Amino acid sequence: MSCILKSIVNAPASILIADDDETSSRFLKRLLTREGHSVSVVQSADAVLSACATHPPDLVLIDLVAPQGHGFEICRQLKENTATRFIPIVIVTSQRDKQDKLKGIDAGADDFVTKPFDTAELHARIRSLVRLKRNTDDLESAEAVLLGLGATIEARDPCTRGHCQRLAAYATSLGRSLGLDDDDLSALERGGFLHDIGKIAVPDAVLLKEGRLDPQESRVMQEHPIVGDALCSGLRSLNAVRPIVRHHHERLDGSGYPDGLKNAEVPLLAQIVSIVDVFDALTTARPYRTARPHDEAFDVLSSESSKGWRDRALVDAFVTIVEKKPDQNTRPRSR
Ligand SMILES: [Fe+2]
Repeated sequence: MSCILKSIVNAPASILIADDDETSSRFLKRLLTREGHSVSVVQSADAVLSACATHPPDLVLIDLVAPQGHGFEICRQLKENTATRFIPIVIVTSQRDKQDKLKGIDAGADDFVTKPFDTAELHARIRSLVRLKRNTDDLESAEAVLLGLGATIEARDPCTRGHCQRLAAYATSLGRSLGLDDDDLSALERGGFLHDIGKIAVPDAVLLKEGRLDPQESRVMQEHPIVGDALCSGLRSLNAVRPIVRHHHERLDGSGYPDGLKNAEVPLLAQIVSIVDVFDALTTARPYRTARPHDEAFDVLSSESSKGWRDRALVDAFVTIVEKKPDQNTRPRSR
């Protein structure tokens, strides 16, 4: 690890203490402030949740019995909220009660410290958790950069404005209707934003061309899933999204690109994004054609199923959810 990186991960942390016992919290605050950490103290469950939502700390120390006896519940709520779930939580307890530890683990606690404190151990545990948190922050930042890049690509082509947003909404709606789990839904949502990230390597002359692409231009365009996959490959957090990025132009009969996958080889999440991608492209206006009505887009998808390109059950499921709640899928019907 470089010296600069080492100094960043070992830098003082912002720590929130949740404890309504003033003597105990004052002692802990003094201990941590002496180490250079910036420490705040809150005394109620609401104050903990509000502080974490507005100024997320690097770590939260929650007394087991305080504030107001809601230590486990606060821990559970912080871990259930996607905005705060990566904040490390240390439960402070005055007794070595195994049941409490098990309850704390169930509630999502990352670590425990027991009173009276072993100061050296307390500082070491905090350093370790903060280091992990900062690594997670770095990964999140890198993912945010890629998501921003996805939005930049969309901005290059005014005709595709809102495309990523709609794709994410359509794809997660379809995924939900199929009973997919939260991890898959999260991948579908991020896949909506990242599926065309490889178009960063496609020149404007090709990306924005209104007419048919010539063979050389088609080859350049068809590289975008490979480029996108390579861009996402550096982030483990995008492992579930990469199959969408790479395979959203495959067809079940093997005539798609870039790998010519067939049938079950085409990942389900990529098939979903592919269907909603085609639907959104057809129902969005272009300078050289008007937006096509939903029914016509459904006919195109249906005929592509007949040709063996798509799974008919998936297309039917998508048609059903768009017909059932067109507004919830973020866009009005085109005329
Ligand atoms: Fe694409």
